[in-house]
Amino acid sequence: MGRVITGVRPTGDLSIANYVGAMKPIVELQDTYEGSVNVFVADVHGLTDQEPELISRMRIDTMRSLLASGIDPERINVYLQSQIESQTDVVASYLDRHISTAELLRVPTLKDKAKKDQGVETLNVSLLRYPVLMAADIFMQDADEVPVGQDQYPHIEVARVLARRFNREYGDGSEIIVVPNVMAVEGLRIAALDGGGKMSKSNPKGAIFLKDPIDSIGSKIGKAKTAAAGEMNETLESHFTLSRELSKTQDQRDALDRLYDAHLDGHNVMGSFKSLMTELVSGFLAEFQANYDQISDEQVVDLLEVGGVKANEQADLVLGRVRKAMKFV
Ligand code: TRP
Repeated sequence: MGRVITGVRPTGDLSIANYVGAMKPIVELQDTYEGSVNVFVADVHGLTDQEPELISRMRIDTMRSLLASGIDPERINVYLQSQIESQTDVVASYLDRHISTAELLRVPTLKDKAKKDQGVETLNVSLLRYPVLMAADIFMQDADEVPVGQDQYPHIEVARVLARRFNREYGDGSEIIVVPNVMAVEGLRIAALDGGGKMSKSNPKGAIFLKDPIDSIGSKIGKAKTAAAGEMNETLESHFTLSRELSKTQDQRDALDRLYDAHLDGHNVMGSFKSLMTELVSGFLAEFQANYDQISDEQVVDLLEVGGVKANEQADLVLGRVRKAMKFV
């Protein structure tokens, strides 16, 4: 049976784009996937560019949001990366010698982190090692599939390279470390409301956050960029997609299809579309926020204790196997 893993960084507020792009696919997976699914909050990775004090507050909150968005701890093992930090870090350090600095400098996400006027050489070492630690995260749970967005594909490639090199070096023909694959999830890219690129927390005016007050949604969406009747652009297209993703009934989906077609036929329907989108987004947020309010931080901590035990058992197994293969016991 397969094993799936994914990690969510505990930085800042989650937006509705995070929900449809990352959380909703995992929730759908738990209903269909036969095998074990692991979802953790990557708090150690959060330290690459955030203060520990912030991360220690945000990690519980991020897990609470994951649970409020429908992740069921009865079916998905949930934990914090730091709960298995001692094993993961050791494996990461064993992996370090199997990848060169030059290879890590070529990872595209690293280049994005560097400010325009700086070279990557000035970034801290944890950013350089990010893909190595991420590989160890995946290896510690023997995961063979990783549902991540396209921006993470280069990291999965590093993990694959490391697993293969490790097995070749120490495996004596067998697979000590499971070579992971990307699990293709529908890569939904939601545009910012103002059309300024992707919806993200770096452009708060263009984003809808899961904890936004419901009564602010209408005016946010009211100001959203649209397209002239008869024309389509990436922003409007993705807001139709977002609305479809949040629809609950066939009637709502039919209404969206009718508005879409009418718009392409040159009719002025943007006002009606925005009202429907506001209704769908508000309905979803109301449900999310009600769930969120029902879960206490203490409950999250209790759930993590259970999930952490399981994650540790598996991590101990993997670390033991790795050390034995390396004859480093
Ligand atoms: N890098 C991922 C992100 O930024 C988070 C992450 C850390 C992760 N470790 C992982 C995802 C292991 C999948 C598997 O979204």
